[in-house]
Amino acid sequence: MGSLTVRNLPEDVKQRLRMRAAANGRSMEEEVRLLLAEGAAETPAPVKKPAAAKGAEQAAPATHRVLLIIAGGIAAYKSLDLIRRLRERGMAVRVVMTKAAQEFVTPLSAGALAGERVFTDLFDPASEFDVGHIRLARNNDLIVVAPATADLMARMANGHADDLATAVLLATDKPILLAPAMNPRMWGNRATQRNIARLVADGVATVGPNSGEMAESHEAGTGRMAEPLEIVAAAEALLTRTHDKPLAGRRIVITSGPTHEPIDPVRYIANRSSGKQGHAIARAAAAAGARVTLVSGPVELPDPPGVATVHVETAREMLAAVERALPADVGIFAAAVADWSVAQAGAQKLKKDGGGPPQLALVENPDILATIAKLKAKRPRLVIGFAAETEKVIEHAKAKLKRKGSDWIVANDVSAAGGAMGGDNNAVHLIIANGGEVNVESWPTQSKDGVAKALVARIAAALKAAP
Ligand SMILES: Cc1cc2nc3c(=O)[nH]c(=O)nc-3n(C[C@H](O)[C@H](O)[C@H](O)COP(=O)(O)O)c2cc1C
Repeated sequence: MGSLTVRNLPEDVKQRLRMRAAANGRSMEEEVRLLLAEGAAETPAPVKKPAAAKGAEQAAPATHRVLLIIAGGIAAYKSLDLIRRLRERGMAVRVVMTKAAQEFVTPLSAGALAGERVFTDLFDPASEFDVGHIRLARNNDLIVVAPATADLMARMANGHADDLATAVLLATDKPILLAPAMNPRMWGNRATQRNIARLVADGVATVGPNSGEMAESHEAGTGRMAEPLEIVAAAEALLTRTHDKPLAGRRIVITSGPTHEPIDPVRYIANRSSGKQGHAIARAAAAAGARVTLVSGPVELPDPPGVATVHVETAREMLAAVERALPADVGIFAAAVADWSVAQAGAQKLKKDGGGPPQLALVENPDILATIAKLKAKRPRLVIGFAAETEKVIEHAKAKLKRKGSDWIVANDVSAAGGAMGGDNNAVHLIIANGGEVNVESWPTQSKDGVAKALVARIAAALKAAP
């Protein structure tokens, strides 16, 4: 209706409307709607209110604006519930649907639930005139793609803009949350994993996919779309970070967990790191508003919501993922990276052939902390290493600080008596390079979440003190 009204207006009125809309940062359609609403409010006409107007009148202003992109996967039916759940939380939801998505759910259903028309076409003159793909990309606080199909992610990862959804995703400056959903084999395919790793390194956040039975077949595995309430929780985590958050606008890269260095296709060298401390720091940093990339070795922990998590196995893969995640304001290297890997990992399983145990030649792995601390152009302003020591904790950590060129070292006692490896508590010492001096703070034993929050508070204070 709004678009017809605008298009039929005289050119000079349209021009004034265009200027007014641009000055107010609104689309022309929104501007017209507001003008009509203002006009109606000023006109004391004894009009009988339609029933729908009552709810609208009472509705509180939306807290956040979410652009939901629905792609063509079988899980699209869950996105209708997602619209309801987001709106229940006071968010305004605008919907874009791909051509394939319309094979699964109709724009009519999505529009009825969102309370406004759905956008489907890049070359639709009416929507380009009213809103346009650039406005769709910018006039929101967050873009959620649910379900995110393998195809859409492939196009995103390669910077395509060949339909409305990808054009919006390429043109946006807002955070993006993907809820991938597909057949487990599609998800496990190297191409999909390559694409998602690239998107995550670009700063895109993900939620799911979950494991379980697939909707369309009796196949089970990883590929189910996260449930609507999980997506809402991840969206809220991303949205709240922009308001009053000490690390808002900061980029942080964190490593966590062990690495696995292959001996042959079934055996590897590992260590007892659980990843609990690194993951706790990622959660705390995200809660403080940072854009976090978590590079995680193999762990039994869920990906923290609202955090871009990259999964790696070896030290070399971890270094490459960290380098891809730069530039960042802060680098926190909490992973227990294997010092050595096997020089020639067997392509086939090593066999007991009666000739005695195999002789494994080891080679040194790259030193991730030292490599990043010594970077020239892309060195994070604050480089924080972790030192896992079983004796002379502070002495060894001070030496590590110097050797690696990091700014801080978080030293923890990982001897069996301390129980930090795999446990929920940690007693750490914060070693800080302060000009030519080294300051040491010994923190009381506390939960790993407690250590994470305290560390994040220290980081926020340090960045504020030296902006
Ligand atoms: C019945 C059916 C179900 C499908 N389900 C999925 C799915 O769950 N995930 C996925 O990535 N692709 C799925 N596809 C394939 C996509 O629809 C196809 O790749 C399409 O090009 C995606 O387009 P879009 O990304 O622009 O929405 C399905 C196709 C069919 C016919």
